[in-house]
Amino acid sequence: MKKKNFIRTFFLVCTTIISISAISISHAAEKVISSYSPVVITKPFSETMSEMKSRKPGVMKRQMKLLNERYDLSNKPAKDVKMSRGKPVQQGVRARLPEGMAWQKLASMTPEEIQKKGLFPKGFMPLPHPNHPEGGMVFPEFHIKEIKKQTGRDLTRFDLDYDLPDHFLPEYPPPIYLTTRPDLGDVSQGKVITTDNYFELFNGILNPKQLEGLRLLVTPFPQQQFNTTEDRRSEKPSLGVTCFDCHVNGHSNGATHLVGDIRPQEFRHRLDVPSLRGVNIQRLFGSQRGMKTIEDFTEFEQRAAYFDGDPVIATKKGVNILERGSQAHFMGEVQNILDFPPAPKLNIYGKLDPGKATET
Ligand code: HEC
Repeated sequence: MKKKNFIRTFFLVCTTIISISAISISHAAEKVISSYSPVVITKPFSETMSEMKSRKPGVMKRQMKLLNERYDLSNKPAKDVKMSRGKPVQQGVRARLPEGMAWQKLASMTPEEIQKKGLFPKGFMPLPHPNHPEGGMVFPEFHIKEIKKQTGRDLTRFDLDYDLPDHFLPEYPPPIYLTTRPDLGDVSQGKVITTDNYFELFNGILNPKQLEGLRLLVTPFPQQQFNTTEDRRSEKPSLGVTCFDCHVNGHSNGATHLVGDIRPQEFRHRLDVPSLRGVNIQRLFGSQRGMKTIEDFTEFEQRAAYFDGDPVIATKKGVNILERGSQAHFMGEVQNILDFPPAPKLNIYGKLDPGKATET
């Protein structure tokens, strides 16, 4: 009897082990890491939206805690350093040190010691996206408001907000200087350029090709988070985003995103939008140095960056294929005449002219 019981128990244990390992194998199979985003969405949009909306406060709280731990985000404007239209540049060291540490003390330690004791200031580590596992385009509040006012498009995301304080961002709206018309100075008239006003502001200053290029730069096209499908992060179906929603007035508003070229998601770096001023004197474009011309980058932005480097999703959400000769090229021409602000104290080689520049 005892022996029989033992055999039965042994048999039971064995089958349990076999079934547990079968379950874990099938779970492992479910967790296969893919380069592709899901195309078929299995949940109704309203459910996704209400779930994500309810998680939003927690997401933002976590991100603001991380930022405040790493950086001093207070408003400390420099007295003498201002942007072209007068917004002060922030001053002072903003990366925080670990509790009880001083910069001198850190400088006297070896790199190995710093690493072993975990004293490397976190502020110099890659900055995560406001919600890194989700990623995607995020616009500062002031830009969302202005675009809504001018064009009716709403760039609000229901799942997250922009995270950095306005005083760290470029002045808004940024001025526009043209290499072709330095005599005019700032041609923006203090306005954010959109479909609403580009023609009125630039007719007679740009040639017809450039005007068409500018029109395309301020025209919205579908993108991963802003599109008309159920796989979007805007409350209402969206016509998309424009190039100048990030590179506002050919410069930047500090909007953020993740690089498209890296997988898996946690390895993708957060990106700050670079200015397009001076692209005419660049030879390589993008953080991976993958683009050789401004026309290549222009095509790439919509076909790849807008959809996280995933052509399958681009097909689903509405890729806008720019025709090289009459669209990408025209857009490239406009970007190529965006100039730096005038710097009368620099000489022809870009160095300070000691005759004009003071010591401080
Ligand atoms: C989410 C905001 C966003 C939108 C919208 C956007 N860009 Fe960009 N753009 C970026 C970021 C971020 C980079 C930097 C990418 C990198 O370093 O790899 C960039 C880089 C560029 C560059 C290269 C600049 C350089 O100095 O290397 C060009 C040119 C450019 N964008 C043009 C465009 C055009 C044209 C469009 C519209 C089709 C567009 N962008 C739409 C965010 C945006």
